[in-house]
Amino acid sequence: MTETPTTAQMLSTEGLCKSFGGLRAVHNLNFHVDDGEIVAIIGPNGSGKTTFFNLIMQLYDVTSGSIYLGPERREIVGLPTHRINALGISRTFQTLRLFTNLTVLENVLVGMNRHLSTNYWSALVRPESLRLEEKEAEERALDTLSFFGERLLSMCNEPAHSLSYANRRRLEIARVLASDPKLILLDEPVAGMNPTETREVMSDIERINESGYTVLLIEHDMTLVRGVAGRVVAFDHGQKIAEGSFDHVCSDPEVIEAYLGRQSNHAKKRPRTARKRSRRRSS
Ligand SMILES: Nc1ncnc2c1ncn2[C@@H]1O[C@H](COP(=O)(O)OP(=O)(O)O)[C@@H](O)[C@H]1O
Ligand SMILES: [Mg+2]
Repeated sequence: MTETPTTAQMLSTEGLCKSFGGLRAVHNLNFHVDDGEIVAIIGPNGSGKTTFFNLIMQLYDVTSGSIYLGPERREIVGLPTHRINALGISRTFQTLRLFTNLTVLENVLVGMNRHLSTNYWSALVRPESLRLEEKEAEERALDTLSFFGERLLSMCNEPAHSLSYANRRRLEIARVLASDPKLILLDEPVAGMNPTETREVMSDIERINESGYTVLLIEHDMTLVRGVAGRVVAFDHGQKIAEGSFDHVCSDPEVIEAYLGRQSNHAKKRPRTARKRSRRRSS
């Protein structure tokens, strides 16, 4: 089934496929995110979620199909990643990718790089215009950090490695915001966080969305998905298997099978004696 384009459409795909040799990581995917939405992608490990982000950012070549940006449906397949950034899509990674020896502020300035006009010669002679541009960039970076209150702002001149894990993940989000995107892609933003940190990041994501950013996120943490996502899309084997409200998707038999089926089948196959032994060990 193809997606029906709407005037509010931010991103859409049609028949999107990515194969690695014989493995179909993303297969025939029709997908859309509307302007202003928070959409969550769920699915078991290996179901193609991160590959989908890598295709949107054109970090992987698309095997076939299309990715469109905006209601005017501008095809972005084939564009270099920096152009995708410049068109307003920015992402975080499943595993942290900060410059840990740079300061918190410098990490945000890196995210703003495409907005600065510095070139090699002007950097060497450092004219007044460049100094002014740097000062303005620094002010904007501090402003972005202030989005997270004092948490990052008070640490702005400290190296990124001195931040707590949760604040390092926040810094990644700050760097994404600093690139002035329309659509932000968050890959497992609360992976490894405790329930309190998760709740705080949930409210950060809601505030980001209320500030006008469209959010597409991948997440395993169902507290976060239930709490923030207006729409949930479930993947399995690179395909969309369900879509709709959290309750609708999570009660879908195919989704339950994708998450639990293999586990329970596996459990069924284990010999009785092994099950008994493990029960005894855990008691
Ligand atoms: N660069 C790659 N080369 C080969 N296989 C890959 C590559 N990236 C992902 N895959 C495979 O594609 C499938 C989907 O992976 P991924 O998108 O990372 O899943 P998810 O994020 O849903 O856990 C997996 O089987 C994975 O091993
Ligand atoms: Mg992943």
